[in-house]
Amino acid sequence: MCGIFGYIGDKKTAPSIVLKGLKTLEYRGYDSWGVAVVPEKKTTEKVIVVKKKAGKIGNADVVDMPEGSLAFGHTRWATHGGVTDKNAHPHLDCTKTIAVIHNGIVENYEKLKTKLEGLGHRFVSETDTEVIAHLVEEYLKKYSVLPRDAAPAFSKAVQATFQELEGLNAIIVINTAAEEMVAARNGSPLVAGFGHGENYLASDPAALLPHTKQVHFLEDDEMVIVSKGGIHIFNAHTGQRVRPRKQLLTWTAEETEKGKFPYFMLKEIHEQAGLLSEIASESPEQSILIARELKKAPRVYMVGAGTSAHAARAASYFFSLIAGKLVNYGVASEFDHRLSVIPKDGALMALSQSGETMDLLEVVKKAKEKNIKIFSLVNVVGSTLWRMSDEHLAIGAGPEKGVASTKSFITKIAHLLLIAYAMTDKVKEGQKNLIKAAKSTKIVTSKAHTHAIMALAKKLKDEQHLYIIGHGLSYCAALESALKIKEISYIHAEGIPAGELKHGTLALVTKGTVCVVFAPRDEHYQSTMANAMEMKARGGYIIGISDKNEEIFDEFLQVPDAGIATIIPNIIVAQMLAYYLTIERGFDPDMPRNLAKSVTVK
Ligand code: M6R
Repeated sequence: MCGIFGYIGDKKTAPSIVLKGLKTLEYRGYDSWGVAVVPEKKTTEKVIVVKKKAGKIGNADVVDMPEGSLAFGHTRWATHGGVTDKNAHPHLDCTKTIAVIHNGIVENYEKLKTKLEGLGHRFVSETDTEVIAHLVEEYLKKYSVLPRDAAPAFSKAVQATFQELEGLNAIIVINTAAEEMVAARNGSPLVAGFGHGENYLASDPAALLPHTKQVHFLEDDEMVIVSKGGIHIFNAHTGQRVRPRKQLLTWTAEETEKGKFPYFMLKEIHEQAGLLSEIASESPEQSILIARELKKAPRVYMVGAGTSAHAARAASYFFSLIAGKLVNYGVASEFDHRLSVIPKDGALMALSQSGETMDLLEVVKKAKEKNIKIFSLVNVVGSTLWRMSDEHLAIGAGPEKGVASTKSFITKIAHLLLIAYAMTDKVKEGQKNLIKAAKSTKIVTSKAHTHAIMALAKKLKDEQHLYIIGHGLSYCAALESALKIKEISYIHAEGIPAGELKHGTLALVTKGTVCVVFAPRDEHYQSTMANAMEMKARGGYIIGISDKNEEIFDEFLQVPDAGIATIIPNIIVAQMLAYYLTIERGFDPDMPRNLAKSVTVK
């Protein structure tokens, strides 16, 4: 949550470089944005210049600010304080010579604020972040004995400040007296980028791609001093130097662009057929390795948040249906009670696109403390989850920027299917199923099918409630489809096990109630149709998603059968329906209200 980007180097256009960096990070938070620069021209009273505003960044490529070669900026997802210009980051100290940007929550901010107010500091925002600027100011007074001691005094002041913060935070601080950015992390992600004559900091490696591929992911309690000439890493508590763990990013800057598509989400939906074919044809070595380990473990637990939790749920079906292995799954924010009963020789499989979801990282941390082996499926290689895992598999979705997870879900599912097949030494069968799923996906995303989905979205755009039913894997599809529809189109949608209708939800069905039915040709087909009939008999308007049209369907979206992998094209149809419903209703599918791509707070 919150995008952070910082630049220091030879170029005098730092504010505009930062603005471009922020635009690539806007999916991390888009309540407000801001940039701060240390102006190049020396004035008698040199202060930091800040431009910040509530709302999205907009289209401008250049920010109207003084020239400077040290600047940083922030896109906000509000935690403390409303969405206002004043609460947007960066925040300044009383002298306006220190600026801070921050991702996280300062849990003891009230105590710190009271103390600082007592010392005469004046606060202008309602945020927890502002205490950081004033605290650095206070420590700087203490450490700056001689003016030429300014640089070390500044980093010492940031270090002392960071040590006082409670909670999970990443901070970057700049100061007019020191030509450097000083940053520290505990919990929230931060990555340093190595350039030539210039260096960077960002909350997400994808933002660094247009500048450099050489990065260092900060670990918890690491502090970094980034100057034009270099990047120096320390332990934030002991002050001990840390060797940079340089890592090469594999994504390209082009992959982070929208290309010919109006929105990232549509681009990402259309990438899925190709990604499935790639997964089906690449070496399944890592899937086989993980399958072997999971097979050995007496108990396997799967965990994720949001869409990744739906992937965990679907995987539990794959594991029992294909590999005969019972797998326990759960959502990360509700996993605590399971943690206490996982045996030492159990395995925890953590699923995540970003690898930075705080709810999930907390589970993994606690599991590690119990010496439970961690396996993960992650999209962002090098992320915190990636580094915490004993074994990891890169799902290879490429940069995903739409807040709604699409291709990262599908690639996770594809790898989990292969792992389940690999557990019974039938990985080739898994690959064949993925090829079928890729073919079916190509068809459902073709022009003709897209038109049918668009027409349906037009009809449904004013609905307030949608019920989505399915049995078995199709129940997992129903849950994921409902989440997609809710989060971007703001229509209330509910995924329900088809057989559960009669146990309650059927009471809500009246004339015209819209019900989407996932009805692949599997062992549940007949019972699903019977459940759809129960709705139809009470006036339900039935939308069938299946490979065969049936009389009871009022609307029909055809999905060619792909065996057990039919869940893949089925969900892709729902992604498209969610997308076109959102367009019809006039909303932005990439940046739904109140949400952010990577949820790094608890
Ligand atoms: O990065 P992760 O996969 O760990 O993210 C988990 C959820 O925050 C994420 O899937 C969220 O539910 C999506 N916005 C759903 O589309």
